[in-house]
Amino acid sequence: MILGLETSCDETAVALVTPEGDVRANVVASQAELHARYGGVVPEVASRRHLELVGPVLAEALAEADATLEDVATVAVTRGPGLIGALLVGLSAAKALAWSRRLPLVPVDHLHGHVASLYLRPEPLDPPFLCLLASGGHTLLLDVQDRTGHRVVGTTLDDAAGEAFDKGARLLGLGYPGGAALDRAARDGDPAAHAFPVARVPGFDFSFSGLKTALLYAVRDLPADELERRRADLAASYQHAIVRALVERTLAAAEALGAERIAVVGGVAANSELRSALPQATLAPLALCTDNAAMIASAARYAAPIPFPEYLALDAYATAA
Ligand code: KG4
Ligand code: ZN
Repeated sequence: MILGLETSCDETAVALVTPEGDVRANVVASQAELHARYGGVVPEVASRRHLELVGPVLAEALAEADATLEDVATVAVTRGPGLIGALLVGLSAAKALAWSRRLPLVPVDHLHGHVASLYLRPEPLDPPFLCLLASGGHTLLLDVQDRTGHRVVGTTLDDAAGEAFDKGARLLGLGYPGGAALDRAARDGDPAAHAFPVARVPGFDFSFSGLKTALLYAVRDLPADELERRRADLAASYQHAIVRALVERTLAAAEALGAERIAVVGGVAANSELRSALPQATLAPLALCTDNAAMIASAARYAAPIPFPEYLALDAYATAA
């Protein structure tokens, strides 16, 4: 089996996946509660927590798969992009595990990992397809021709879609991380109550900073009781603007590239309005939308492993190459 580790942000995750793509264990320990009081992820706090959690999460994953380290043939780990201290905890743990049994190691790009969440059983997707990757750190349109990689067709010029959700949720007093909370609040609201702008930048790129500012202007002079009264409408209208931007650009890119299939991955792919707005698209299963290690192990199935001991000096990277 392939043992996957993911520690790029605030989820400590370990998974066991077979070479055929069956997920035997997929354990994710979220640190969200720990960071909530700061209103965002504190990198130093995240690194220390990964250090405490990586051992227990590994033990839980092995137990869930009814396996031992004897059953592991390859170790896969996220190398970047992400928080550098957090990444180094996972990378060091992966090196130690691989080194102790003289196993090969596969370093995985986190974004490629999100795409590879589509290659797992029971319903693996075959390239070619156009992939919308919308997460807390990235908003990308990717042309995927085979399972080894992708070509970037569009990106965000400022905030990522998940970041727009999180900042909007914060302005609406919905706590951190706010994407899922805003999604829930929007269910009781009217998406047409407020006309928020959808930026139309050239090409297939995205921009969400103007939208965030529009929400700020809409809420900053509202008394607390009035904000309370309008929260659902504001959430629904704001979410609608984000989803519209994502859907419009994705459909335009699919048409321009002649892509017959569309897929959506990343944390924002869990959004209920986005999921119903693209009925023709393949959506990553809910459990594989937000950060996890099964997607990292999945990506490793299509990369050449680095033999022992060549990977011992491997470094992590914070930003996409
Ligand atoms: O992929 P992910 O777990 O981490 C990154 O690689 O960034 O994505 C996390 C992002 C957060 O911004 C979170 O608010 C957002 O995904 N998210 C959602 C929903 N669930 C998570 N955004 C909108 N609606 C949701 N239901
Ligand atoms: Zn991610």
